[in-house]
Amino acid sequence: MRAHEAGALHGDLGYRGPAWLRTPEDVNALVPQLWPRTVSRTDAGSLQVGGVSVADLAAEHGTPAYLLDEADLRARCREFAAAFGDADVYYAGKSFLCKAVVRIIEEEGLFLDVCSGGELAVALKAGFPPEKIGFHGNNKSVSELSRALEAGVGRIIVDSFDEISRLSDLSEKLGKRAGVLLRVTVGVEAHTHEFIATAHEDQKFGFSLAGGAAFAAAVKILDEGILDLRGLHSHIGSQIFDTSGFEVAARRVLELQAQIRDARGVELEELDLGGGFGIAYTTQDDPSTAGDLAKRINKIVEGECELANLRKPRLSVEPGRAIVGPAVFTLYEVGTVKDVDGIRTYVSVDGGMSDNIRTALYDASYSATVAGRASTAEPMLARVVGKHCESGDIVVKDEFLPADVQPGDLLAVPGTGAYCRSMASNYNHVPRPPVVAVRDGASRVIVRRETEDDLLALDVG
Ligand code: LLP
Repeated sequence: MRAHEAGALHGDLGYRGPAWLRTPEDVNALVPQLWPRTVSRTDAGSLQVGGVSVADLAAEHGTPAYLLDEADLRARCREFAAAFGDADVYYAGKSFLCKAVVRIIEEEGLFLDVCSGGELAVALKAGFPPEKIGFHGNNKSVSELSRALEAGVGRIIVDSFDEISRLSDLSEKLGKRAGVLLRVTVGVEAHTHEFIATAHEDQKFGFSLAGGAAFAAAVKILDEGILDLRGLHSHIGSQIFDTSGFEVAARRVLELQAQIRDARGVELEELDLGGGFGIAYTTQDDPSTAGDLAKRINKIVEGECELANLRKPRLSVEPGRAIVGPAVFTLYEVGTVKDVDGIRTYVSVDGGMSDNIRTALYDASYSATVAGRASTAEPMLARVVGKHCESGDIVVKDEFLPADVQPGDLLAVPGTGAYCRSMASNYNHVPRPPVVAVRDGASRVIVRRETEDDLLALDVG
């Protein structure tokens, strides 16, 4: 996440808003990097996606709804696959997973990263080839590991000495040799929110490089010979814009690789540098293209291999957000508009922290626009909030909306494809919204809306 530049004064509201806000003149404009690629305003002023107007989508599917631009998602998959060429691109399913998305990423040539038995079940149910699945997690259970081994999952990313023992026992018991990568904590402070940075020393993931645990784990696996150690893995965090973190990570894991070669005469064949590539949530975010990322990452790895006198390992990456994040926007309906005198205007929508927890959890920034019509009204600085019983239930902290925004207006929030539906909750017993894929003038529900019956189905008391 970018450092927030607070402090710009907007109009005579006396309100100190952040400097990344769109200019007031832009209330109807769509900033391209924020929106799925088939989104535009019709001549009448309404947003459309995949050739269908949001009014029609709202009438057919209700609000709130996550609207997925299928052409955009497919294009992003293809761009990553093409840009990384020889390297394998594992789509990180934790960002958003359902059977339709599993099929799309398979059709577009990607691999899949899962991090729980549940995600594995969705992947297998959708018929994804198990050998193209990587299985992550710092505390995989015996049953999750057994299922992965039995299904023939391509690689398991081991995260602790306990797991090495557990997986070795299971491999022997089931007569299946697991292909594994070793998750290494490289000691990088990624420039992102503390909760989504994963490579600094003080944390639960991986084997510490600095403390020697990573080397000891690699040697243990090689000496025991039960598991098939294919390579090293590093994931430094999420929503990262600056490739310098990847550079440090690559250097450090490749140094470890050289150390392992020198100690045991084995050159590991694979290297996974994880995901974490940032996307635009506001006009201030300037993400790299897949092509740029691939070029820089390949260059970094080639340079570091040369320095360490290593053959270039087979590279892989695990983007989630950068693939699905920008392909989706959430469509809400405005329910109330409340002007709190001299402070700000609150625009309440029919969802909130149950469909997007990221603003409350990470202080994330989003953008919004009135979607059902264009407006010539004066711009007004507003806060978009949800319907939950919490004052922290904020969807968009600050945005210019037209001053005539009113109950019944449709409001669209872009960049919600990653970590919104996947982290959605039933807080306040608000049913979770559907995910609707739109393409070539037609829409189809790929995850249906939760119903009150669904909520009551688990309540067996
Ligand atoms: N690989 C590993 C090992 C990961 O742990 C993650 C994300 C990824 C790949 C994909 O990262 P991405 O490319 O999507 O940034 N809930 C947080 C993000 C948590 C990310 C967890 N791991 C958020 O909403 O920002």
